[in-house]
Amino acid sequence: MKTSNKVIVVTGGGNGIGRELVLLLLARQARVAAVDIDRAALEQTAGLASAGERLSLHPLDITDLEAVAALPEQVVAHHGAVDGLINNAGIIQPFVRVNDLAYPALERVMRVNFYGTLYMTKSFLPSLLKRPQAHIVNVSSMGGFLPVPGQTVYGAAKAAVKLLTEGLHSELLNTRVRVTVVFPGAVATNITAHSGVNIPSSPGEQRSSFKPLEASKAARIIVEGMEQDRFRILVGSDARFLDLLYRFNPAYAARFIAEKMKSLLPSAS
Ligand SMILES: NC(=O)c1ccc[n+]([C@@H]2O[C@H](COP(=O)([O-])OP(=O)(O)OC[C@H]3O[C@@H](n4cnc5c(N)ncnc54)[C@H](O)[C@@H]3O)[C@@H](O)[C@H]2O)c1
Repeated sequence: MKTSNKVIVVTGGGNGIGRELVLLLLARQARVAAVDIDRAALEQTAGLASAGERLSLHPLDITDLEAVAALPEQVVAHHGAVDGLINNAGIIQPFVRVNDLAYPALERVMRVNFYGTLYMTKSFLPSLLKRPQAHIVNVSSMGGFLPVPGQTVYGAAKAAVKLLTEGLHSELLNTRVRVTVVFPGAVATNITAHSGVNIPSSPGEQRSSFKPLEASKAARIIVEGMEQDRFRILVGSDARFLDLLYRFNPAYAARFIAEKMKSLLPSAS
C-alpha cells in the first residue's frame, strides 16, 4: 500500500527503528499515530518531526488490552480514519539460557512481543477491513526463524509473530488488507537498554560479524517493502544470508549462530 496521505499507526515510535519509521512516513506525506510506552521518547520523536497535527502521540503499553482496545477510536478521532498498522514495538530478554530465565522476564517478553502485536492487530483489524486499501506490517526478527541461544524465548515470541502474520496474510487474501512480516537482522539501536537488559561486553541483537544496519536504513527497507505489498521483508545482509543458510541446512545454521553467540553466555553448568 502506498503510504502517502494514508493514516499509519506505528508502535515503538519513541526510539530506534520505530522513530525512523515515523519520521520517514511523515516525510512521505503520511499521517502517523505514534504509540510507545515511553511518553518522553515519543515527545522527542515529535520534536524531530515538526509535523504539526499530521502526527499524534499515544503513550500506552501495548500489553494493556483495555488501552489498546480504546486506541482505534482515538486515532480515528484525530486523523479521520486508519489505513495502516506497523507493529514494531518489542523488547529482548535477559541474555541467559531458558534454564536461568525467571518467569516474570519470560512472560514480559512474550506479552510485549506476541500479545502486544496480537492485541493491536485484533483491535485495528475491524477498522482496516472497512478501508479501500489497508496494510498490517508486523516486525518479527531474524531470531524468529533461527535459534539464537540466550534469546530463546525472545525468538519463540518472534516466531509466534511470524506465524501469526503469515496466517493473517492467508486469512485476509480475499480482503483489501495486505499483510507483511519483517525480519530484521542486527540494527544499531538501544534495544538492550530499553529492554532493561545488561550485557557485559556486547549489545544483544547487535552482536554479529555483520555491521549493524542504521535504523534509518532499516525503516526505509520496511516502508519500501510495505509499499510493494511484500509477503516478507528481510532487513540487512545478515538476515538475508542467514535466511538462505537456515533453509539450506537448519542444523548447520543453528550451530553457526551458537558459535557466534557463545561468548555472551556463561559456560553451561
Ligand atoms: N535492533 C535490532 O537489532 C533488532 C533486530 C531484530 C528485530 N528487532 C525488532 O525491531 C523492533 C524495534 O526494535 P528497536 O531495535 O528499534 O528497539 P528500541 O528499543 O530502539 O525501540 C523499541 C520501542 O518500543 C517501545 N516499547 C517497548 N515495550 C513497549 C510496550 N509494552 N508498549 C509500547 N511500546 C513499547 C520502547 O519504549 C521503544 O521506544 C522490535 O520489535 C525488535 O524486536 C530489532
